[in-house]
Formats: sequence, C-alpha cells, structure tokens
Amino acid sequence: MNEPKDLLDWPENLPEWPRHLLAERFRRETHGDFPRWFEAINAMPVQSSRDIKLEEDSVSCALDLNAKAASQLNEQLMHLHPWRKGPFQIGDTFIDTEWRSDWKWRRLSKTLGSFNGQRVLDIGCGNGYFGWRMLGAGASEVIGIDPTLLFCMQHQAIQKYFQDRRNWVLPLKVEEIPNSTTFDRVFSMGVLYHRHDPQEHVDKVFDLTAPSGGQGIIETLVVDGAESLYPDDRYARMRNVWCVPTVDDLCSWMTTAGFNDIHVIDVSTTTLAEQRSTPWMHFESLVHSLDPHDQTRTVEGHPRPVRAMVVGNRD
Ligand SMILES: C[S@@+](CC[C@H](N)C(=O)[O-])C[C@H]1O[C@@H](n2cnc3c(N)ncnc32)[C@H](O)[C@@H]1O
Repeated sequence: MNEPKDLLDWPENLPEWPRHLLAERFRRETHGDFPRWFEAINAMPVQSSRDIKLEEDSVSCALDLNAKAASQLNEQLMHLHPWRKGPFQIGDTFIDTEWRSDWKWRRLSKTLGSFNGQRVLDIGCGNGYFGWRMLGAGASEVIGIDPTLLFCMQHQAIQKYFQDRRNWVLPLKVEEIPNSTTFDRVFSMGVLYHRHDPQEHVDKVFDLTAPSGGQGIIETLVVDGAESLYPDDRYARMRNVWCVPTVDDLCSWMTTAGFNDIHVIDVSTTTLAEQRSTPWMHFESLVHSLDPHDQTRTVEGHPRPVRAMVVGNRD
C-alpha cells in the first residue's frame, strides 16, 4: 500500500498554518486503525459521481455502479464506523448517522440565511457534514478542523466521490490555528464543553473571526437556572465535559471576548429521535445516557442535554 499522498493536500491560501502537523498526523503510525481505514477508502470503487446535492437533508451524490460494486462501497463505508454526523446518501448507500445533523442545520440556517461568498472556519467539524451544507448555502470555502482522525478519514471517503476542494476536514485542534488567519464566519459547535477554559475558547473564536463584520457562532450544551454546571465526573456518560454553561454565562463570555450584538438563536432539548443508535453507529447513544426512570435527568442525575446556539458580531 502506498503512503496516502493525496491526504497530505493543503488549502493553498493558508500558507502560514502549521503544515507539518498535517504531514505528521495523516500517517499510518499515528493511529492503529489508520491502515484499515486507508485500505477501506482505497477499496471503494473508483467512479465519477453526478447530481451532487448539498441543499437537501441528506448530502448526496448519484453513482453508476453495478450491484457488486454498490455492495462493495456499502461494505467499505461501514469499515469507517461509527458515523456520527450526517446523513449522507452515496450512490445506493444511505448512511443513517447517529445524529440527524440536518435538524441542527435547519435551526442554524433559519437565522443565518445565506453564506454567499463567505470563508468559514468550522471548529470541531466532525466529518464535514456542515461544511457541505454551508457550501450548499453559498459559502466559497469551508475549512473544517477536527483532531479525531476517523472523522477526517470519513471526509476523505466522501471526497473520493465529491472531489470538491472547497470543503476541508483537517486533523488540527483549534489551539493550533494561528490568529493570523481570520474568517467571515467561525463556528464552534459541540466543542465548548470539552474545553477546560471556556473563556479562553470563546476568546479564540473571537480572534479567528474577521474584524469589521465577521460573525462567531457558538453552539453548546447548556443548563437552565442560575449557575453553570461544572461536573465532578461524567455528564451523560461523557468523561470529557468540563463545563455546561447557562446561556447567560455563555453570552457574558462572548461579551468579554469582544463580540457585540449577541443573540441567542435557538435553545432545544435534544430528543431521542435526533440522537440515536443506528446500523451506522451501533454503540450506545442518548437513550443510554438518560435515567430510565426520569428522562429529564442524565444517568448521573444532571439535567438532560439541552443545546443553545448563540451568535455574536465582531466590529
Ligand atoms: C460533539 S462533537 C461536535 C461535532 C459537530 N461540530 C456538531 O456540532 O455536530 C465535538 C467535536 O469536537 C472535536 N474536538 C475536540 N477537541 C477539539 C479541539 N481542541 N479542537 C477542535 N476540535 C475538537 C471532536 O473531535 C469532535 O468531533
């Protein structure tokens, strides 16, 4: 098997970014499963796609494959389990992901509207599902960053058929991105509660947002009530949740960072229909994180997951 040279690609207009990290991370030594994922992508049938659709709930393309090749594609995509963000329809294969990310997209896009000509940074982008939807809404380029290598590989699998250099999923952490590059819109969705210092994260989102009209969008778990929650141990079975803020604390961190015209565009309780186990994510999911006797609580006794989206502008 050759080294995955095509995975070392880099957005040309971001020369000052830490290129060496990409080269370090897209290598078989980086992760024990990397060779298996790479083989799966290599074994997917080579075929041009048509009818790529980025404006519908499922990000999709049509493929002219015979039954054997279609079944081979389905099998190789399954090797990239677990698929968390989507859905995708790749030829005959419908990837029914753990999350109905299209529902989050609807909540976002009803307020954010057009992305015409915008350059976007999506921090913690997962496999790049939202990047496709942003392109569908008019963005000129979406740089997604996510340190989880499997999600970067899922993006590579989709790119095998989409071949679209306007959407990137790079194995980088937000703290590795220099502030010298700024974006028209910066998204941080589902990341804040994984950060030890939430104010520092919001400051970073601000720094990466273009002066004179850029916009930062932060989506996070929130709690109702007077005080943010700092779990001693797990939250909804997740070990790496450090802070679940109140909406007021989040808005105040955004004000401190320098954002203005801060507005809450959505607060929604995550339902068992939006996040659930499927054949494409057969591990446990939200239902297993809730108290079976009181579904308003997590198994640890915390309030069940509610998520808010807050937008702020930079002068
Ligand atoms: C809960 S998921 C959210 C995915 C997607 N943004 C969404 O809203 O559905 C959080 C993602 O953040 C990524 N992540 C964790 N730490 C990060 C960091 N320091 N920088 C960038 N992404 C990070 C994880 O790998 C994970 O894919």
